[in-house]
Amino acid sequence: MNILGINVYHPDVSAVLIRDGQLIAALEEERFRRIKHCAGFPGLAIRRCLETGGIDGKQIDAIAVSRNPKANIWRKAAFVLQRRPGRTLLGDRARNLRKFQDLRTPLAEALSIPCRDLPKIHHVEHHPAHLASAFFVSPFEQAAVCAIDGFGDFVSTSLALGTDRRMKILEKICFPHSLGILYTAITQYLGFLNYGDEFKVMGLAPYGRPNYVHRLSKLIRLKPDGLFELDLKYFRHWSHGVEMEWEDGYPRLAQVYSPELERLLGAARTPDEPLTQHHEDMARSLQAVYEECAFHVLNGLWRRTKSPRLCLAGGCAMNSVANGKVRTHTPFKEVYVQPAASDNGTALGAAYFVWHQSLGKPRSFVMHHALWGTSYDDFAIDSVLTESGLANGGFELLRLGTSDETCRATAELLAAGNVVGWFQGRMEWGARALGNRSILADPRRPDMRDLINLKIKFREKFRPFAPSILEEAMRDYFINPSSDAFMQQVYPVRDDKRHVLPAITHVDGSGRLQTVNRNQNPLYYRLIQEFERITGVPVLLNTSFNENEPIVDTPRQALDCFLRTKMDALVIGNMVVARRS
Ligand SMILES: [Fe+2]
Repeated sequence: MNILGINVYHPDVSAVLIRDGQLIAALEEERFRRIKHCAGFPGLAIRRCLETGGIDGKQIDAIAVSRNPKANIWRKAAFVLQRRPGRTLLGDRARNLRKFQDLRTPLAEALSIPCRDLPKIHHVEHHPAHLASAFFVSPFEQAAVCAIDGFGDFVSTSLALGTDRRMKILEKICFPHSLGILYTAITQYLGFLNYGDEFKVMGLAPYGRPNYVHRLSKLIRLKPDGLFELDLKYFRHWSHGVEMEWEDGYPRLAQVYSPELERLLGAARTPDEPLTQHHEDMARSLQAVYEECAFHVLNGLWRRTKSPRLCLAGGCAMNSVANGKVRTHTPFKEVYVQPAASDNGTALGAAYFVWHQSLGKPRSFVMHHALWGTSYDDFAIDSVLTESGLANGGFELLRLGTSDETCRATAELLAAGNVVGWFQGRMEWGARALGNRSILADPRRPDMRDLINLKIKFREKFRPFAPSILEEAMRDYFINPSSDAFMQQVYPVRDDKRHVLPAITHVDGSGRLQTVNRNQNPLYYRLIQEFERITGVPVLLNTSFNENEPIVDTPRQALDCFLRTKMDALVIGNMVVARRS
């Protein structure tokens, strides 16, 4: 049975194909449309899912959509009656809903079938889809499950207990109260206005001091049983129309905080204003307040479930700093965060929700790695490199015979200080490059971080780079780490190793590590092993293969990114392209 899961008319739209409970493909529309966090309809991602699965649209047996406008309808009605939100808010929601209700036409087009032949469409509420995206692909038979985000289908936080093929919702916190909105409000206050900029504030936070915790704590009240509520006078998402553009292309969200927030904290930063200690302190304080609230929620969940295992999802589950502290700030012993924890992952969750919870099918799949995207064969790679005329343009091209030789040659380039674009196998699912669409470098060089920031990524200097480390070595370099193939948890680098890994050690001595083992990604594992053989260090600096754009999908995009930047070499399949020095 083929189930197509989609996230649609939300940010980070995506499509997932599962067959008899096994994941076949998981793809984000942004990679194909080349628009970060692309909203709208995931038509290209759907087509790539079919191609990857070797089927046509007629062979889809069910469609699972991670949204259900009918969910929480009474709570919505009660909110409108009690709070009487402005016309713009209601108008925006109605416009988005109209678009959503006309799903059959674009679906039939993407599947190349007439509307009348569409299979059954299951509407899975947004938060259960988040919860399912974490629990049903986790290695756990039973676990506490938590989703925290901005909002979806009127809910911002949901707590559940997952057992085998079912999840029982224990509690949910509804609009307008939301930890995601709290983080977004201060992110906007700090002058980061693009959708998804919250991770920049997380990167900035370690530079600051938590001086504003007391003031920021006024924005939120913790309640018994892990619940919370916002002090709504500091926010306007619930009263005025906060414009949202989620219908097509780049998602936008207008200002969610009210003038009262500036009265509390002082004037907001404009995007072109320099970042000062005040902004760093504010970021640090926000992270501290967020963590206190998140652990309050999680401790409440633990008291209800007493499970030692936790699955996390929702945009806030991308807060890898908080994720890394879960095991020390709550009784949970094991944490699983799927790589597409944001709204992209709801396509996965919707598909698995239908398979397990609606159809009652047994569990048979665990997501151990993130390599569920597109791939390109040697012929496709060769064509791009041959057509490019690189050999005549100041580049050396070298074709290596085996992947062992490729790993060896690449490790030598890295150990010699080169920055290498590494394009191999299937593209990653989720926001992070995990060793198949990565830019790699030597983490031992103190200048490497600035070099990549200035010459290749052209991004803010304060943002850290992350390490990939052989799983068996993680305890030699990090304090109390947990295996995490998806780079979703930050841990302190050991004191005696910080000088060994200056390029991936953040200003507070932490690192967001990806652990790599032989089964998850054999080629990447071999590459890191080769680097260790030469340098004695089983760690690489790993950042996403892109330059202010979505991660590259095709060999052509990889080559263009290589040529546009000052990357030293590109290793694509078994081909090495190097700039002649
Ligand atoms: Fe969400």
